[in-house]
Amino acid sequence: MKAFDVVVIGAGPAGYIAAIRAAQLGMSVACVEEWKTPKGDYALGGTCLNVGCIPSKALLESSENYERIGHQFKAHGISASGVKLDVKTMQERKEKIVGRMTAGVAGLFKKNKIIWLQGHGKLVSAGKVAAAGETIEAKNIIIATGSKARALPGVPVDNKLICDNEGALAFDAMPERLGVIGAGVIGLELGSVWRRLGSKVKVLEALPVFLGAADETVAQEAWKIFTKNQGLEIELGASISKVSHSKKDVIVQYTTKDNSSKTFECDRLIVSIGRVPNTDDLGAGNIGVKLDAKGFIEVDEYCRTAVPNVYAIGDVVRGPMLAHKGEDEGVMVAEIIAGQHGHVNYEAIPWVIYTAPEIAWVGKTEQELKAEGAGYRAGRFPFAYNGRALGREEPEGFVKMLADAKTDRILGVHAIGGLASELIAEAVVAMEFSASSEDIARICHAHPSMSEVMREAALAVDRRSLNG
Ligand code: FAD
Ligand code: NAI
Repeated sequence: MKAFDVVVIGAGPAGYIAAIRAAQLGMSVACVEEWKTPKGDYALGGTCLNVGCIPSKALLESSENYERIGHQFKAHGISASGVKLDVKTMQERKEKIVGRMTAGVAGLFKKNKIIWLQGHGKLVSAGKVAAAGETIEAKNIIIATGSKARALPGVPVDNKLICDNEGALAFDAMPERLGVIGAGVIGLELGSVWRRLGSKVKVLEALPVFLGAADETVAQEAWKIFTKNQGLEIELGASISKVSHSKKDVIVQYTTKDNSSKTFECDRLIVSIGRVPNTDDLGAGNIGVKLDAKGFIEVDEYCRTAVPNVYAIGDVVRGPMLAHKGEDEGVMVAEIIAGQHGHVNYEAIPWVIYTAPEIAWVGKTEQELKAEGAGYRAGRFPFAYNGRALGREEPEGFVKMLADAKTDRILGVHAIGGLASELIAEAVVAMEFSASSEDIARICHAHPSMSEVMREAALAVDRRSLNG
């Protein structure tokens, strides 16, 4: 029987990074992965590389370019005529990027001498995993089986008319009318892609609040920009009663927040109402790994299950379903197995929503601080006062910094605006080093750059912004 120091089940960002780090630390590693591309080839990279982060960002970039040439270039004195959208080429570009990234992981496996077992992995008994038709021995097991789209009861996804993330990333033509159920991250990102490319987009959200996880001021600004400026139709408090379809149309019946019944028709429907962990056919019970009521694997802060030498990381455990959170857990667990002191600072995990403008944050929201009764000071600075933002035609949005009223330690940073996904890194570094708003305010920031808005927000905490 083949035996390894570490067997990883799942090669998404959590699993493949865990495998690489364990190999770097001198352990023998096998990784079991069952993902197959539409062509039937096995592929590494999980949801993130195949049908998540990477393809969605490729389409976001294409659609932003299309919108820029159609709407924003005029302001620069550039006019273009005969602009056409070729969805096939756009999708082929996306596929190429995905192929390059997944092949890259296969290359990294070779380089690090990680054995890739192609097929399904299942926990058999203590220290034993059934993998792709054979049983292998593992001194340590890392479960990184990820998540899949949550289904809406009674709404069958065919990934043609009614789609989850997989179908929604592979449309072969622009739908004239696009329906989206769920105004979360996927709904907003993919809704924005197709709105920019010309679809009329209507999003139905069950909750009465918009972007409840974000800072309220950011959510309000985003609501104004997406609905009023960009024409995304979002209806809150909608309760879906029935979804049916003819050969060409999808019919959605729902009840509004004031209890009236409504129907709308669309050419394609995206169902993006959250994700559920992949634990159905894992054999968790065979070795005593416990699942919570929602099917997530129960772990402690170091991603240890209750079973010795069995760990679980990424989307299959508690916490935000974000690729970088899973990657960091992968590194932590590999280092713990090697006898080191791996850890993840869950207080400093950034969130980014790749809409235009982008939304990004780290740490506590203002409403969370209020609910805790924490003493804090807030500083806010708009992109509209920043020369680089104006030069880039991106005057919308702001950066807001929240700092402890007594110690001035940064508690949270929230941004909506151009390049927010990149700017937030400075705030994450600051929080990791327990920086104060004064620290950021005294650091030299290049001029003209969007990052000056971060510094001005820090200065605003102390009511001494220099440019506004
Ligand atoms: P996954 O990536 O889901 O990988 C798990 C792997 O395990 C899969 O390949 C699966 O085939 C395999 N597997 C499962 N069970 C078994 C088994 N029993 N045997 C063998 N193999 C198995 N996050 C971000 O941080 N930024 C983004 O911009 C972003 N965009 C996203 C866009 C979309 C449309 C979606 C759907 C998600 C996005 N996410 C994003 C979330 C991100 O993709 C996930 O958080 C991340 O992929 C989780 O990594 P993971 O390794 O835990 O699981
Ligand atoms: P989500 O949790 O972000 O949003 C789901 C939305 O659907 C919520 O607003 C929820 O209230 C709503 N909803 C739930 N049930 C509903 C119903 N029956 N009818 C109408 N609305 C309903 O989940 P989403 O968008 O599916 O994305 C899944 C996860 O993938 C995200 O939570 C995130 O962790 C990850 N992701 C991250 C991205 C990023 O980092 N940029 C991009 C895309 C996804």
